[in-house]
Amino acid sequence: MNMLTTDGVDLRVEDLVKRFGRGSREFTAVDHVSFRLGAGETVGLVGESGSGKSTTVRCLMGLERPQAGSLVYNGLNLRRMTYRAERVFRSQVQMVFQDPYSSLDPRMTIGQIVSEPLRVHTDLDAAGRRARTVEMLERVGLDSAHVKRYPRSFSGGQRQRIAIARALVVRPRVLVCDEPVSALDVSVQAQVLNLIKDMQAEFGLSVLFIAHDLAVVRYLCDRLVILEKGRVVEQGTRAQVYEHPTHPYTRSLLEAVPRADPITERQRREARRRAAAALTPHIDKEIAA
Ligand SMILES: Nc1ncnc2c1ncn2[C@@H]1O[C@H](COP(=O)(O)OP(=O)(O)OP(=O)(O)O)[C@@H](O)[C@H]1O
Ligand SMILES: [Mg+2]
Repeated sequence: MNMLTTDGVDLRVEDLVKRFGRGSREFTAVDHVSFRLGAGETVGLVGESGSGKSTTVRCLMGLERPQAGSLVYNGLNLRRMTYRAERVFRSQVQMVFQDPYSSLDPRMTIGQIVSEPLRVHTDLDAAGRRARTVEMLERVGLDSAHVKRYPRSFSGGQRQRIAIARALVVRPRVLVCDEPVSALDVSVQAQVLNLIKDMQAEFGLSVLFIAHDLAVVRYLCDRLVILEKGRVVEQGTRAQVYEHPTHPYTRSLLEAVPRADPITERQRREARRRAAAALTPHIDKEIAA
């Protein structure tokens, strides 16, 4: 049976372990992490800095080699892939990184950046690639007349739109987002989150969304996986985690971190409230609740 052509998404991470260093300096960054991502679902992987979020997804994407555990995508063992299986996985599972300033090649125009995955993963000719690129750029809210410009002439939020266009141009089933808005101004964070939410609905994507802040993912995720020091301390549906958190660490993530300077803290809360309010068109019910 050829599992690769199966429709839908069933991504399973089981007992994943990643250690760095050796001997007395050995450090376990990911400690028996397990979770699943199903078709059309958005799962949030949330924890403070250093909790192992990026390392988990780097193992998933084949950028790090774990010591133990299983990574299975639609029946395909990601730890032992044939060349062909890896190509299929790479076209179906795409990633958007945290820092849009370093993740786009400064020597490529945005037309080249967005169309490159089409060259690798499809047999579209140059005209077909150009049409898909223009369509995708417009879909993420960019002016397709700018295809010949370089990343340096775009803002952080626009660059993250370019990264999203590049990830989605091959019509993947899964989008992995590693803190895609944390490097952006609060004023544009909500726009980019809304774009991801729109794309998720339009393309029926499954999304694995990493954040260190439960406020950011509240309106995005169906389920949450809470990581502390490499371990999953809690996972559940959005309602379970936000309304009845069982672990003290989850509760601490839900509360605002106390800051030394009360003015800064007030401004920060206000900025978050504005960012959440800007998401309102999509989340009327949740805000009202
Ligand atoms: N290549 C590496 N070599 C050694 N230690 C590493 C390496 N990569 C990550 N680590 C360590 O593993 C731990 C988890 O790092 P990771 O980047 O996964 O955290 P994170 O949850 O993504 O944090 P952040 O929110 O800051 O991005 C950290 O203590 C980090 O220093
Ligand atoms: Mg990280």
